[in-house]
Amino acid sequence: MPGCVAVGMQWGDEGKGRFVDVLAKEHSMVVRYQGGHNAGHTLVVDGETFALQLVPSGVLYETVTPVIGNGVVVDPIVLLAEIDRLERAGVSCDRLQLAANAHLVLSYHQVLDALSEELKGADAIGTTLRGIGPAYADKASRDGVRVQDLLRTDVFAARVESALLQKNVMLRGLDRDPIELDEIVDRYTGEIADRLRPYVTDTVATVNEALEADASVLFEGAQATFLDVDHGTYPFVTSSNPLAGAATVGAGVGPRHLQRIVGIAKAYVTRVGAGPFVTELDGAIADHLVDVGHEYGTNTGRRRRVGWFDAVQARQAARLSSLTEMAIAKVDVLADLDEVRICTAYELDGVELRYPPARMDELERVRPVWVDLPGWASTSAGLDANALAYLRRVQDEVDVPVTFVGVGPSRGDEVRFDGGIPR
Ligand code: GDP
Ligand code: IMO
Ligand code: MG
Repeated sequence: MPGCVAVGMQWGDEGKGRFVDVLAKEHSMVVRYQGGHNAGHTLVVDGETFALQLVPSGVLYETVTPVIGNGVVVDPIVLLAEIDRLERAGVSCDRLQLAANAHLVLSYHQVLDALSEELKGADAIGTTLRGIGPAYADKASRDGVRVQDLLRTDVFAARVESALLQKNVMLRGLDRDPIELDEIVDRYTGEIADRLRPYVTDTVATVNEALEADASVLFEGAQATFLDVDHGTYPFVTSSNPLAGAATVGAGVGPRHLQRIVGIAKAYVTRVGAGPFVTELDGAIADHLVDVGHEYGTNTGRRRRVGWFDAVQARQAARLSSLTEMAIAKVDVLADLDEVRICTAYELDGVELRYPPARMDELERVRPVWVDLPGWASTSAGLDANALAYLRRVQDEVDVPVTFVGVGPSRGDEVRFDGGIPR
């Protein structure tokens, strides 16, 4: 059976959680392959809201095995708290599997994340302060501590001791308190390690055995294309690769298994944190979209920046992840406007670009080329001709079929178009 990837096309918070919840019904396994608890994926089912950070969004279906793959960075305290919350809400997490090879986010990563932002001052990235960047940096510099290390106290202590060598030199140099090894060992070993142990498995075997047995596996991306550390608006990005192709490395499967690639976008664009944003809005329409769309971060509560749909960005997302279809969320939020805009190209020094420039200095100078389309009334009675015309235009501009449209946050508030929006 082919694997399916769900990937964000913008700067995150596109509605990945809710569409993964829709897609999960047709899959027997849902695998997170990157990111950490910087993610906040919201699902609304029967009036109940679930905000997931580490547990894959398929967890609500008893038929689904949720897997946290090796490419994810895992804060064990946050994971256990999330499991507790789900169990209290009556959602069993017994089937959850956690990669032995996944790296841990530990408290000192959060200290270092905050310190880095503080030292950058006005140039701060606006990270979620969850310690994600420092945890991935440790992984790359061979100072990481993995889930499996937590299961043996002596190994864990040795790994952390080694990881702290350079950090404590730096902290002392900045007149900051050094990280105490004993405090870290006490905090994470014992009860936390014991509680995580039953979830820890060889997830490469789990996922490949499922694919070999013809089971359908869904890979759930976190963050999004333009937060990708290679292809996003660097340095205003996260520290992992959210692109669909990264599901191979982050879960340990070969690329031939990835056949259905669903790009998820909002009908407009939002961004939390700093960095360029070509179609950004301010003023009354921005306030309106923030209000109606409740555009405050699931994770940090920050007001999200908002802008019109950017087809240049979406085309690049389609190219970077070989999208085979698109799901567009929050079409209901764009209702009741007289006109709705789409950015169809960028203009740079009199030249029209269909894809974003690779150079940041050029990206900062581009001007959006707009097309204005007539607005639509509430979507509560369905998508009217104007809403369909807007979606058809998005589909044509990006040249990828729109197969799901979100018209509300709850499970069931979506319209399905097999084969795309009809002509
Ligand atoms: P994710 O990070 O991509 O999973 O997205 P988030 O959960 O952070 O943010 C998306 C927000 O939009 C959540 O509050 C969702 O409940 C909400 N949402 C998703 N799809 C729709 C939709 O079609 N309409 C409306 N009104 N809200 C939606
Ligand atoms: P989901 O999966 C939106 C942003 C942060 C910051 C930048 C770097 O819910 O879409 P980090 O903490 O990762 O080092 O922050 O990335 N960011 C997100 N923005 N949604 C997310 O996740 C995000 N995860 C990180 O705001 O600009
Ligand atoms: Mg989110």
